[in-house]
Amino acid sequence: MTSPTQTGTAPSSADKVVLVAIPIVIGAAVSVALGVYGRMHEPTGIAVSVAGFSSPQTVKVWLASGVALFALVQLFTALVMWGKISFVPSGRWTGPTHRWSGRIAFLLSIPVAVHCLYALGFQSYDRRVLVHSLLGCFVFGAFTVKMLLLTRRGLPGWLLPVAGGLVFTAFIGLWLTSSLWFFTEVGVKL
Ligand code: HEM
Repeated sequence: MTSPTQTGTAPSSADKVVLVAIPIVIGAAVSVALGVYGRMHEPTGIAVSVAGFSSPQTVKVWLASGVALFALVQLFTALVMWGKISFVPSGRWTGPTHRWSGRIAFLLSIPVAVHCLYALGFQSYDRRVLVHSLLGCFVFGAFTVKMLLLTRRGLPGWLLPVAGGLVFTAFIGLWLTSSLWFFTEVGVKL
């Protein structure tokens, strides 16, 4: 069976609904699966020391700060590409910078999230930690949706910015509920 995107014809309204619904269902399944795993399995509490850092926690805090930084680059380059920052002209650098900052942010987030899920689990012992756990699961579902939407043609122009904005917001929320909390409560240290 060939889809409208394969034949090059514009998708009908019904096709568009299906084209959007499938990524959202898959993304929701990713988020729910992470949450169920984080809740069901017994947190191991395992921690790996990294040379140069005072604790495994600070490694995560700085990796998550890297994620937030590259997420900001993503937002900035996206705004430049969409002509929303008039004093910075879009050029050949914007696309690659946007893609690479996204890839780096995603890659940096993986070891942090694996440790969170495997060693700490989905926790809700206070509001910050509950919001953090929810955002941690949400962000990978939202990321999945964004990646799947990227390959689909003929969809409303606002969809991709909304999906990207949700991923960005979730990553910044994760930073606020983990690294910023650590920096203010424990201190800024390696
Ligand atoms: C995948 C789902 C995730 C779950 C269920 C989760 C859960 C948790 C929990 C329960 C904590 C301990 C909170 C505390 O007591 O302060 C924590 C800490 C932390 N999380 Fe996550 N998290 C997830 C994803 C992420 C992601 C994607 C990032 C950043 C990109 C992140 C960054 C951090 C950092 C920096 C800490 C503080 C270091 C630590 O306590 O080990 N988490 N997470």
